[in-house]
Amino acid sequence: WAELSLRPQRLSQYIGQQTVKENLKVFIEAAKMREESLDHVLLYGPPGLGKTTLATIISNEMGVNLRTTAGPAIERPGDLAAILTALEPGDVLFIDEIHRLNRAVEEVLYPAMEDFCLDIVIGKGPSARSVRLDLPPFTLVGATTRAGMLSAPLRDRFGVVSRLEYYTHEELSEIVTRTADVMEVEIDVNASAEIARRSRGTPRIANRLLRRVRDFAQVRADGSVNDAITNQALELLQVDKEGLDHIDHKLLRGMIEKFRGGPVGLDTIAATIGEESHTIEDVYEPYLLQIGFLQRTPRGRMVTHRVYDHFNLEVPKL
Ligand code: ADE
Repeated sequence: WAELSLRPQRLSQYIGQQTVKENLKVFIEAAKMREESLDHVLLYGPPGLGKTTLATIISNEMGVNLRTTAGPAIERPGDLAAILTALEPGDVLFIDEIHRLNRAVEEVLYPAMEDFCLDIVIGKGPSARSVRLDLPPFTLVGATTRAGMLSAPLRDRFGVVSRLEYYTHEELSEIVTRTADVMEVEIDVNASAEIARRSRGTPRIANRLLRRVRDFAQVRADGSVNDAITNQALELLQVDKEGLDHIDHKLLRGMIEKFRGGPVGLDTIAATIGEESHTIEDVYEPYLLQIGFLQRTPRGRMVTHRVYDHFNLEVPKL
């Protein structure tokens, strides 16, 4: 629960994602005025940007229960039926990694989302019949790293589709300050700004780095977090000035050393550095694209001049 309480519980405490926040605020208020459940919400974007936090906040703002599960955890239609029939009116059902639901489970979800009912087939063969079971109205909050991985019929059943963006350094700095405050750690503004700059636009990373820096501050200094201890800690953690870690380095250097900077296919990169291509695509690549270190071309991924600058390497001549 300590982990949970570090997260903001209300929309007003949530920093960043201004557009998403403003929209949700209106939809929540309208649903409450009409005494209806909130329309289904799809949240998509890179990991660590606050999708789970937003689901929690939505349930708090609506004053209902939150039920949390994940795509891979719902193996059969019966698993989903059990979850749905246990909901109370207005509840929020959060399905993380919703793109990983299998087809049979998805089929159960359609009528549940659209008409709040379950179609259950009883028996087998010629005597099989279908019964319709009413469900309480509920709000499905789905989360995925890429909306494109969702089947069209599922995507179309969400009334609200919101894309989460990487946070600015200012927003991350505010988040680090807030988290430090909740953890009762003293931190100076230069230190929170430094952590913010090195967190790849991602609050989850910012808060993780803060915890590690706090460890160093506690053991190697007087417990308060300043600029010097932050730089020391982040260097030991192998997080560079742009926030790139060991795996980012392996990926970028691998592309330069083995493929002259590309273009090279994702699967080839993955195989060379021994990482899953899905992990690269969902976790590492989006930020490298965002900061202009990587480019996608029809023939594969390419590093940009910025990467050579970053590593103090000479840009190869054609
Ligand atoms: N902690 C993690 N993400 C946050 C956010 N967006 N706002 C406030 N605190 C957070």
